[in-house]
Amino acid sequence: MSDKSARLIIGNKEIELPIHTPTAGPDVIDITKLYAQGDVFTYDPGFTSTAACDSTITFIDGAKGELLHRGYPIDQLAEKSHFLEVCYLLLYGELPSATELEDFEARVTNHTMVHEQMHNFFRGFRRDAHPMATLVGVVGAMSAFYHDSTDINDDWQREVAAIRLIAKLPTIAAMAYKYSVGQPFVYPRNDLDYAANFLHMCFSVPAENYEVDPILARAMDRIFTLHADHEQNASTSTVRLASSSGANPFACIAAGIACLWGPAHGGANQACLEMLKEIGTVDRIPEFIARAKDKDDNYRLMGFGHRVYKNFDPRATVMKQSADEVLELLGVEDNPLLQVAMELEKQALADPYFAEKKLFPNVDFYSGIILEAMGFPTSMFTPIFALARTVGWISQWKEQISDPNLKIGRPRQLYTGATRRDYTDIESR
Ligand code: SDX
Repeated sequence: MSDKSARLIIGNKEIELPIHTPTAGPDVIDITKLYAQGDVFTYDPGFTSTAACDSTITFIDGAKGELLHRGYPIDQLAEKSHFLEVCYLLLYGELPSATELEDFEARVTNHTMVHEQMHNFFRGFRRDAHPMATLVGVVGAMSAFYHDSTDINDDWQREVAAIRLIAKLPTIAAMAYKYSVGQPFVYPRNDLDYAANFLHMCFSVPAENYEVDPILARAMDRIFTLHADHEQNASTSTVRLASSSGANPFACIAAGIACLWGPAHGGANQACLEMLKEIGTVDRIPEFIARAKDKDDNYRLMGFGHRVYKNFDPRATVMKQSADEVLELLGVEDNPLLQVAMELEKQALADPYFAEKKLFPNVDFYSGIILEAMGFPTSMFTPIFALARTVGWISQWKEQISDPNLKIGRPRQLYTGATRRDYTDIESR
């Protein structure tokens, strides 16, 4: 903590507020005592200027377009690491030794199956349910199947819950997909790595052998890495708020999945691909850019803009490289959607409106193109985001419940409703 402070003058009161200096990013004015000292609240709907916690996990510099996980830049991790190593880094704070990594991967591998009774749980859903609806329901129900890892005050149970969630989300997401297409569930295989296992559980069928293409598995693994964590975004903040009440980890992650579903957040990858399909051809791009700029139209270009990045989203840059590789491998480099996406990006970035508002492609802009080329329906895009983000949510959850000073999150409000008035009988209304 620093010895710097801010002075706030309210009427004839002068209140001194301590300023904390971070290891990176802007200074923070500590207002925890403001209400007690000044009888006022601060007002910041959307938390555009509010730090809701302190954390050591992920740092984003929006102006520079920089994303660090425990200090390591995302482009280096995407290039040189792999998803389970990034999971270890996010969970434990350091890159693992070879032995630590081998042990961690073995623990995850040995938790990839789900309780057999869950198969029946799935059968209660309609086949045409959105896989995100199934995911929210089944992950929340994990607390009904794994009672021995719900006590957040038990270190061992916290560790097991974290491993179980990282290990089982791909299995549950794949089951949600198989259920939606009327195909049998495919069990995980311990001889496949994390990303290859997920592709196998999604695309193999009992009727024939299915070999996972290593280039697609690598691209899938990279997509997981690019989505792993992202500071205090809406869904992570939801997980933190849920965990502040002492809710079990499965309930907290289900809350995060529910929040991620929105098209302004993780649902943007599905919305973006649907937008590219609606645009259809390059000659219709100006029409959609005009709509996005029209003050009287609340239409927005999906996959553009970000609360924090006012420069390129570094994940979008890596994702674009992956898109090129995957489409070339699949022989669809002239994919019309990619042509529309690239031309849309070019025209939007050349338009003063987007430049002034610092609207750049975000992580969701290219991911949908890769996932569709891999054979996923758009309805599976956000479940894949949720699967990858589970390690970020659970790392932030672990960090928060380990805080000895943890308090339940309970924001106040700017009340603009009716002041006190007496009840009137219906005869006199
Ligand atoms: C993710 O927080 C995270 O880190 C999220 C995420 C993660 O990894 O967890 O990075 C993942 O959610 C990425 C974002 C995916 N969402 C989309 O692609 C949906 C489209 N984007 C917008 O909805 C919007 O950009 C947000 C929600 C992402 C950010 O919204 P903000 O920060 O609240 O910005 P804003 O709505 O105040 O917009 C600022 C201005 C507005 O114009 P004015 O009212 O000032 O005139 O920019 C305009 C907006 O109208 N604007 C857009 C736009 N996004 C913002 N105009 C056209 N198209 C857009 N996409």
